[in-house]
This record gives sequence, C-alpha cells and structure tokens, in this order.
Amino acid sequence: SIASNQYRTAYHFQPPKNWMNDPNGPMYYNGIYHLFYQYNPNSAVWGNITWGHSISTDLINWTPQDPAIHPSKSFDINGCWSGSATIRRGSEPAILYTGIDAENRQVQNVAIPKNLSDPFLREWSTPDYNPLMEPVDGLDPSQFRDPMTAWHGSDGHWRVAVGAQIAGNGTAVLYKSSDFVHWVRAASPLHTSKGSGMWECPDFYPVPSKGRQGLDTSENSKDVKRVLKMSLSETQSDHYMLGKYDIEKDIFVPDETVDDYRVWLRYDYGKFYASKTFFDEEKKRRISWAWLNESDTEADALLKGWAGIQAAPRTIWLDSNGRQLVQWPVKELESLRRNGAHLQNTELKTGGLFEIKGVKASQADVEVDFELPSLERAEPLDPSWLMDPPKLCREEDASVQGGLGPFGLLILASHNLEEHTAVFFRVYKAHNGYMVLLCSDQRRSSLRPEVDKPAYGSFVDMNIEKEGRISLRTLIDHSVVESFAGGGRTCITARVYPEVLVTGDIHLYAFNNGTETIKIPKLQAWDMAKPWINV
Ligand code: FRU
Repeated sequence: SIASNQYRTAYHFQPPKNWMNDPNGPMYYNGIYHLFYQYNPNSAVWGNITWGHSISTDLINWTPQDPAIHPSKSFDINGCWSGSATIRRGSEPAILYTGIDAENRQVQNVAIPKNLSDPFLREWSTPDYNPLMEPVDGLDPSQFRDPMTAWHGSDGHWRVAVGAQIAGNGTAVLYKSSDFVHWVRAASPLHTSKGSGMWECPDFYPVPSKGRQGLDTSENSKDVKRVLKMSLSETQSDHYMLGKYDIEKDIFVPDETVDDYRVWLRYDYGKFYASKTFFDEEKKRRISWAWLNESDTEADALLKGWAGIQAAPRTIWLDSNGRQLVQWPVKELESLRRNGAHLQNTELKTGGLFEIKGVKASQADVEVDFELPSLERAEPLDPSWLMDPPKLCREEDASVQGGLGPFGLLILASHNLEEHTAVFFRVYKAHNGYMVLLCSDQRRSSLRPEVDKPAYGSFVDMNIEKEGRISLRTLIDHSVVESFAGGGRTCITARVYPEVLVTGDIHLYAFNNGTETIKIPKLQAWDMAKPWINV
C-alpha cells in the first residue's frame, strides 16, 4: 500500500516524517555542513512553518537537530518562511529569513547562533530588534520574502536582496547595511523583469568565467560572471540569467539585451524548485539544494506521513562556452556506489531493448554513453518545435520510431513495461546543425490514475558532430529520477510513484527505437547504499 513507504527515498534528504519544502540557509561553517528547511512539525501538508535543521560532515549522512527557528515573537508568530545564511568573517554566521508577523505581513528578520562554541550551532535566537525590513513604500506585504545570502561591497557595507512582486514585475529589492542590523532600501532594485510575477527565493552569486571552482558570494574580481536565479511562483520553476554585477550602480546587468522571462535558462527542466546555493569553503565549490515536491495527492501524503524531498546536492559551475551553467551531483555521492552492472561496447539495434541486470533498479546510479556512428538518419527539425520541447516529447515519445533515436533508459519499469519512466534522446537536423533533445516522460510511470504524470523535455546545448556521443547519468531513488545529460548541461528531475515499487519486481532497461544503430561504449550502473539521513 501507499503507506508501506516504498516511495520514500534512500539517499535523498528527507526529514523522518511530515512536510518539507524549500531548502533554507545552507552553509558550511567550521567543518560542518548545515541544511535548514521549511518544515511542518505537525503534518504531511504545508503549514506551521518552522526551520528544520540537520548537520553533516559529508553532505551524505545527516544528523537531525531540533528546529532552529520557530514562530515565537510578533515578527514571526505566523510562520518562519524561507531565507539564507551569511558567513560573516570575524563575526558569527547570520540567518536572514521571512517572518509572517502578527498582522500577517511578510517582514525580514535576522537569527543568530545562541552559542558560538557549540560546534553544531543547535540553538538560534531571534533578537527583539527584528524586523529588519518591512513592506513599506510600495511593497506588497504579501509579496515580499525570501532574503538572499548577503554580500560585502568594497565600501565595507553589506548588501542583500529580497524577492518581491511590484505591479506584476518580479523584483529583487536591494538593501544596504553597515552593521547587519540597520538596513536601508536602495533607490534601485538589484533587478526587475517585466511581467515575470513574484520572485520567490532569489539567489545571486559569482561564478568564475573559467573553471569549476566556486567563489564566496562577496567575490567580485574581474573574471567573474554573476548568476541571478529566481523561482517563479506561477509556474513553480527555477530560472536564471547570466550577467555582471555593476558595483557602482549596485545592479545586475544581464548578458542578454532582451530581458524576457520566457527565455531564461533553467537549472532543471523537470521538477526542481526554490533552489539555493552556498559556497563550500573547504572544497572551493558552489553547491545547490532544491525542493522536489510530490506529484502525488495530499491525501496520499497524509497516508504516507511525509511529503517533499531535496534534490541530490549539485556542484554548479559555468560551462566553458560561457552560455549556461553545468550541474553535477557532488562527488561524495559516489561513495554510496556498490556492486553493479558494467557493460562495454554494446550495440543497440533498431527496436533493441536489453535489461541492465545485477543492479537494484529502485536505488541506483547509472552512467551511460551513447555513441552515434552516423548522423545521417537524423530527422529534420521543424523550427516551431524549438518553442515547446515537452510537447515534442509527448508527441514523439519513446514508442514512436524515429531516425536517430529515441534511445535511452526505461526506469522503474515493470517486467511487462506497463509501468516505466522513459528517459531518452532524439537527434534532429536543424538548418544550422544538429539538435539533441532530452526527454523524461512520466506518462506511463504509474498505473495509479491520481498522480500527476507529466512529460518533460529540453534540448542539450552541445555539438554532437564534434563530440560524437551523448552521456547520461541518472540517479534513481524510489520515487525520484534525476537525469543529467551531456555531462550536466541539461538536467531533468521527476517524481514517480509506480505500483511496481510496492510489489517489488522492478527493472531497468536500455532501448533504441530509432532506425540507426546506437553504440554503448560504456555503461555503469551501481546499487546505491542507504546513508544515515535524519534517523
Ligand atoms: C517557496 C515559498 C517561499 C516561502 C516559503 C513558504 O516555495 O513559497 O516563497 O518563503 O515557500 O513555506
């Protein structure tokens, strides 16, 4: 039954029970990783929002702590909503978060550790001088939330932005402070974009123009680009722009001259929301967390007793082409890999289907390379398809024979394939080269009618003529499938609830339904061990 917990993940972050949404205030401090999260201590549906808290030394095993912040004073008595941590060098770390105050207004507060000599920073206090920022001067008290990690300017002043919607325009409202207590709103926002709706959980951080290193949020040397990420509440999807930070004017300047939210890039073209990054000072990398909501009903959440997981933490960097970000699961995750299946130089002919045996198909990490001996059979791409890749994935799904593709994996599949999640590629010929489409089609993922079963899709920004092969890595963990194509250039995450997970006879296959033979020079699939997560 649903309550048997076969949908619970093994190596993704979850609290032991109840509701979780956004990751909050992730940070690395004195040898410890902290993750806070939006948590309902009483139920598996949203409400009574407090800050759950867990700590880790490896980003894999997590020890639960008592909630760090909970509604207690007039400035947060109706909820402790999302926010971020700032490591203040020479001072204690600080959390800025949104409080729902006694009048149900969204205000921004600070919380600081009660006892800095506690290595786990278990207790946090919310000083009486809160709130720091109030919804005045044209700010809507119901559309003003989710402060970022603050950064330090060369003038020695702190800056932070808060998500808002002003006259329908998504906005990151900028504040400055010399002491982290008194904050003054800047005349201009950090950025605002027409018609984009409320910006939840904005994030703003530097990435080096070259290389994969992460940078401290305050870093602003010359060879640095800036990422501005916003979570669009209307579509529940995370989007970002690349650009520069103009330190004189204190504004974000996008690379693209046309600022149209419909063409912003996405971290993930599936389910992936309210993400937040932090700088890991120990390993010099930037890591993102994100909330993966259920696609199952609230009634089922109550039966299961839990809802919401976090995506696997991802290292994030700028692609060498400078056009987009690349994401890859943190390397610590590989320590969970156990025995599995390893194949070399396999061929997938037209209609080919083979089972990847010897791996626990419900809890696995799969890496596969698809080599394309020839691009001749790539079908022509109708330019109108560029506008709606998910539609293309629905209409030309895994069962529709093509030229070059569809080929890929059938995941969490029953032996008769009645249930399966299809993660696959198709290669098209466009007027100026070849286009690689990645699909994650959940429409046959479960026989249960009540769950949401969308098809997701996006193109992979790669030169298939030059590269000759497409890599796919997929993390499978019971009710979640996270796919990384082209080395992390396009990512798609899905939540799925196959009935076969409950009965236990789960399979994993590779397939090719194109007329061109595809080679698999290498396929590796590992069982994933179950770490200690909040037990
Ligand atoms: C995003 C969000 C935030 C808010 C929080 C409330 O999912 O709506 O904007 O702070 O969740 O739980």
